[in-house]
Amino acid sequence: MGSSGAVLGTARFALDPAFVVAPVDRRLFGSFVEHMGRCVYTGIYEPDHPTADAEGFRQDVADLTRELGVSVVRYPGGNFVSSYRWEDGVGPRAERPTRLDLAWRGIEPNDVGLNDFMTWARRTNVEPMMAVNLGTRGVQEAVDLIEYANHPEGTYFSDLRRSHGAKDPHDIRLWCLGNELDGPWQMGRKTPYEYGRLAAETAKAMRMVDPRIELVAVGSSNSKMPTFGAWEREVLEQTYEHVDYISLHDYYEEREGDLASFLATSVDMDAFIAAVVATADSVGARLRSPKRLKLSFDEWNVWYQAKFVGQQNLDWTFARDLIEDEFNAADAVVVGSLLITLLRHADRVGVACQAQLVNVIAPIRTEAGGTAWRQTIFHPFAHTARLARGTVLRVEPRGPQVDTAAFGPVPALDAVATYDEATGEVVVLAVNRSTSSSLALDVDLRGIEAAHGALRLVEHLVLADDDVRATNSAAHPDRVTAREGRDASTQDGRLAAVLPPVSWTALRLQPSSSQTSTPTFASSQS
Ligand code: AHR
Repeated sequence: MGSSGAVLGTARFALDPAFVVAPVDRRLFGSFVEHMGRCVYTGIYEPDHPTADAEGFRQDVADLTRELGVSVVRYPGGNFVSSYRWEDGVGPRAERPTRLDLAWRGIEPNDVGLNDFMTWARRTNVEPMMAVNLGTRGVQEAVDLIEYANHPEGTYFSDLRRSHGAKDPHDIRLWCLGNELDGPWQMGRKTPYEYGRLAAETAKAMRMVDPRIELVAVGSSNSKMPTFGAWEREVLEQTYEHVDYISLHDYYEEREGDLASFLATSVDMDAFIAAVVATADSVGARLRSPKRLKLSFDEWNVWYQAKFVGQQNLDWTFARDLIEDEFNAADAVVVGSLLITLLRHADRVGVACQAQLVNVIAPIRTEAGGTAWRQTIFHPFAHTARLARGTVLRVEPRGPQVDTAAFGPVPALDAVATYDEATGEVVVLAVNRSTSSSLALDVDLRGIEAAHGALRLVEHLVLADDDVRATNSAAHPDRVTAREGRDASTQDGRLAAVLPPVSWTALRLQPSSSQTSTPTFASSQS
């Protein structure tokens, strides 16, 4: 664990149960399975693997997915979906065609498709978030797909599903209207007007089949796109009344060894969210709409894109190693901080998916035929999903700052808190962005204690490492993990803790009068 070093100062905030941001939405702990590299094949699915179930799904990976606390899983892409024919992936496996996947230059055997994914999702206890192809396809294929997936029976596509062994409708509620259609790399790229019109008409038609669905319109591929802002405005002018969410995607990495800026990455995510909220609200105001659109941050993570050779340099291959980034301790701290940001915006961000789940820029790594292990970034995700309960409380920290080349001076502390009114339990999640110094944390608990009596610390986890570049591997799967912390206590209505440099911390408090209970990984779905 990181040595404490010099103390930078004290960061303080007060917790008050009246300052509620929003309920903790489990959908903020989403993930993403794309037909890409080894995410599906030798990731979630490997029929010859010793742990495979009767349907070919790796149970070691399914167990880790449950432990991760993933709530929603987006599928089947990503760039992959923009030239995907969903019909290829249903029906008897022997009859499914092998296709070129144009997005990632993959050979796609279609051994896994909609019904298979739904079997995996049900068994793994995750909600599906299905994407339709609005790149090379359009309204009719999306309508056919939702009829196949959600209509009970008695029509061509619903009876086709039943003949494929799925007697009950899948009842998929959450749907993405395409993927990154502003990007030059995307199959069937569109102008915002073209996409907005297509998305609006597809949304209308899909709702005619199933009015209960929730729909996500495609936002910019990232906040650095030249059309960012203009894209959202025009797309929402066409789709505002037809959709429930606008999507955000962004990936972050440490550039040129600038660790200080990297640790402040959530400043960038925060500004991105604020800009999309402002754009959506301005369209809503212009349309005189009472509706407040939500955000779906359905691709986010650390991704060392600088290391990627580029799609054009890949050979056609089945299940190749693709973007299997190895994450270090600093990456895990940044992932913890990005989750803190998503929680701080729980009033507007309703869905968030870390991209991706297995092997491809993922918290879970596998060897084909071999072991599966947790990358460093697994730990802050799993503990945040397990611990965050009840409502997100607004925190307004004051304290020392650190200098960054990318963002100027930023607060050394990044933090959020959740509060469960029923039990009085409080969880504080905190990141110390300083690369060299510890940070003292002082939290005023009197607002909570007025309602529940004195609080005591029942869990204290810290992810930090003397070597911020340390990674996990098949040989050393637990080199970096969240370990029990020292240097924290409650007294006289205050929580005091010392946060090591480059660290992520979780502190869980309960009323002294209550019996200690610990949320387990398995119970984090409820
Ligand atoms: O997650 C990897 C890729 O990143 C996705 O396919 C695409 O949507 C994004 O650009």
